[in-house]
Parts: sequence; structure tokens; C-alpha cells
Amino acid sequence: MPQRNDNLMDKITSLAKRRGFVFPGSEIYGGLANTWDYGPAGVELKNNIKQAWWKFFVKDREDVVGIDAAILMNSKVWEASGHVAGFNDALIDCRACKARIRADHLIEDALNMKAEGMTPEDMTKLINENKIKCPVCEKIDFTEARKFGLMFKTFQGVTEEDKNIIYLRPETAQAMFVNFKNVLNSTNKKIPFGIAQIGKSFRNEITPGNFIFRTVEFEQMEIEYFINEKDWKKLFEYWQNEMAKWLEFIGIKKENYSIREHDQDELSHYSKRTIDFEYDFPFGTKELYGLAYRTNFDLMSHQNSSGQTMEYFDAENNRKYIPHVIEPTFGVDRTVLATMIDAYTEEEAPTSDGKTEMRVVMKFNKNIAPVKVAILPLSKKENLSKKAKEVFDLVKNEFTCQYDESQSIGKRYRRQDEIGTPYCVTVDFESLEDDAVTIRDRDSMKQERVKIEELVEWLKKAF
Ligand code: GAP
Repeated sequence: MPQRNDNLMDKITSLAKRRGFVFPGSEIYGGLANTWDYGPAGVELKNNIKQAWWKFFVKDREDVVGIDAAILMNSKVWEASGHVAGFNDALIDCRACKARIRADHLIEDALNMKAEGMTPEDMTKLINENKIKCPVCEKIDFTEARKFGLMFKTFQGVTEEDKNIIYLRPETAQAMFVNFKNVLNSTNKKIPFGIAQIGKSFRNEITPGNFIFRTVEFEQMEIEYFINEKDWKKLFEYWQNEMAKWLEFIGIKKENYSIREHDQDELSHYSKRTIDFEYDFPFGTKELYGLAYRTNFDLMSHQNSSGQTMEYFDAENNRKYIPHVIEPTFGVDRTVLATMIDAYTEEEAPTSDGKTEMRVVMKFNKNIAPVKVAILPLSKKENLSKKAKEVFDLVKNEFTCQYDESQSIGKRYRRQDEIGTPYCVTVDFESLEDDAVTIRDRDSMKQERVKIEELVEWLKKAF
């Protein structure tokens, strides 16, 4: 069980840096707010999550296909989707310390109520009436809440004129809508079917930190599932179950997440029903994933704006209609964070001299562990290194593998525990005689002697 105490986030952030999961962005220049870089262990973890998701929701299904669209899209996409007019947060400034804060978060933290969807005027009133203090300097001296657009703007071409403004996408979803007909025509899919994509999204967020939970640049894994309107209720329920199965697949414990229904006034402009999968982060219970019934809002808007038809022809019933959409959406970075929190374990472990010591071990689900097998020669002696490298060459084709011969074996075990490597394979002097190695299990710490020629098969069975 992870220790869900106050300093769990500090422990995870420090382990993330120490072991190469996540580093602060642009660190040597003092950083850049709300940006993070994935290190050697982090990129493997993140890639494993994305690959597992793609297999789970695209490759293993007949009714979902993938795309990989451009991040930069024609600005008309964001006008039609409603993002240019409506995708903003109400921000409030503290006159005393100049802190800029999201007004809904200020209210939620101070009054323990949901404020998303309220108008800036109502939020200002609530903040004033309740004499809410600035969380940074504790003064009560706020400006009025005002709306700020969340989309990053940039320019295409050589002049910085308005007509050249383009946006970095704030969600991957719109590419699935604008390519709906392309995918339909090139695959002959029949409704219901889905289009999936994994990719970067960008939002100019004002955030209170919380590591990689809310960043300005992040990755999403999204599915737009096109349906006949009459089926929306049963398919919404179906996708809720699929999302729960995914969480189980990556090893997120059931007791650590829950489902929250959005109130009517909290719903996004496109949604008729939304639920959040909320995870118990150490800094509060917050959104991990979302599931929304987007109706036919997006396809209809794009049809109206572009003048191109978005209709689907239902040959069985000889009728045309604009499909409705169920959207399961998953944040990659929040998945990384939740799996790290779920995996983080401190426990007593025996030492070689018969005593015990505390060890930190990341008990990742084996499917997503950054490194699957570590090959560790007992010493740096030449003949041992040679044998160990032979073992490494044998295993590396099948599993993400790491070769490590620096420091004592105890320290190397601790290091592999902290990146969550399920199996450590030790090559010792006996290996030179009996062509066998010792496999150490990350969780039970039990050791087993296995013939080198049987090692790959042994590991395949274990995963
Ligand atoms: N297409 C629908 C959509 O974008 P959203 O709830 O705004 O819905 C979907 O975002 C998911 O993307 C969230 O559940 C979360 O996992 C992730 N996400 C959103 N904003 C994020 C941010 N600033 N940093 C990290 N992840 C974010």
C-alpha cells in the first residue's frame, strides 16, 4: 500500500528526479512554470502506458482505428468547436502579492464546494462574501475574476498579423472529428466505431503545482466513438466499464479511484453527460480521466462551418444522419502519476548480514514497469562481465533490459527496486561453472536458480 501521508508527493517528486523518471523543465535556467521533462525511466514508463493503451483500445478491437494528426490545425477548427469563444478559466489577482489564481480553485479549496461553470461575477461575489484569503500571502485583496483564454497562440508565416494566428491544440479530439469522413471513406467502418489518437495537447494553465498533474504541455489518449443517438445510454455505460477494465489492467487499485457525475451547470459546452474517473491523489481527489456524451455537437458544427457534409449513410435502414459521439479521454501524464503513487511502497527488507533495513520499491504492474529485467554481474571481473553481457544479449531482444555492474550488489538491488524492475538476474562465479543465474523477484525478494538456456522461457512465463 502506498503511504498516503502529507509528504508522499515530496517523496515521489524526489524519487522521480533521483531515479530519472521526471525532471523539472529547463532546470539549469531556473525552470519554466508547469513544464517537466521525462528521464530515462520515465520515458519507458510513459511509452509502456501508451503502447498498452493502443493495444487495449485499438489493436485488440475491431471497432476502433487510429490516426496521428497534425498538432497545428486551421484556426477555423477552433472557432467551430467553440474553443475560441468559450475555452477559458476565470482568474483572479491578489493585489497585495500579485499572485494570479484560478477563481474556481480558490473557492473549491476554501469552501470545499465545486465552482466550475460559475460565472466570473458569481465567483467574485462568493469570494468577497466569504472573505477568502489569498493562499500565498493570506491578505484579502483580490481583483474581480476575469476570463482568460486557455489556448496558446502562435503565428504561421513571416508576419505576426492577426490573420496568421494559429493555435496549439488544447485537445486531440478535434482531429478525429475533422477526419471523420476521411476515416469512414478509407476504412468502410460501420457505426458504431471509434477513432483513437495519442498526442500532445497544450493549455495555458495557471496551476498550484502538483508536479505533472496539471501542466501546460501534456499528452492525451482519446477515443471519439461514433454512434447512433438512440444507443447513447447503453454505450456510455459500456465505455465506463471499458475504462474501469483499463485501470485494472494497468494495476490501479479499485480503492484509490471513484466516479463523479458532473452537475448540469458544470458540463462543457458540448456535453450532455460527463463523468470523471477521480483518483485519490495525495493533494486531493481529482480528475484522472473523463467520459463524455458529446452528442453530435462537433460534427454538426464542423458541417455548418466547413460546408462539408458529415453525414453517415446507414445502408440497412436507408437513411442518412450525423452520428453522435461518446468520448472516453485519458491523460497520459496523470496516468504516469497515478501509477507512481499506486506503486510507491516503503517496507522492511533483510540485509546480507541478517539485519533489516527500509527499502523503497515501486511495485508497478509488470506490464508497464520501465525496465523489465536487470542483468547484474556480481563483480566487475572480466570473465563475469563477459558472461553477464552474453546473458544481456540473450534477454534484450525479448524484454526491456538494463545492464549494471557499478557499485555493490545491494545498492544495485535498491536502485532497481526504486525504478520497479520486476526481475534482477545475477551472474556470479558459479555461473561460469554451471551456466545458471539467480533470479530475484522484486516483490517477494525470493531468489531462484535457473539455467541460462531456460532463462528467456522462464521470464516469458513470469510476465
Ligand atoms: N477532449 C476532451 C478533453 O480534453 P478534458 O477533461 O479537458 O477533456 C481530458 O481533458 C484529460 O486530459 C483529463 O482527464 C486529464 O487526464 C488530461 N488533462 C487535461 N488537462 C491537463 C493538464 N493541464 N495537464 C495534464 N493533463 C491534463
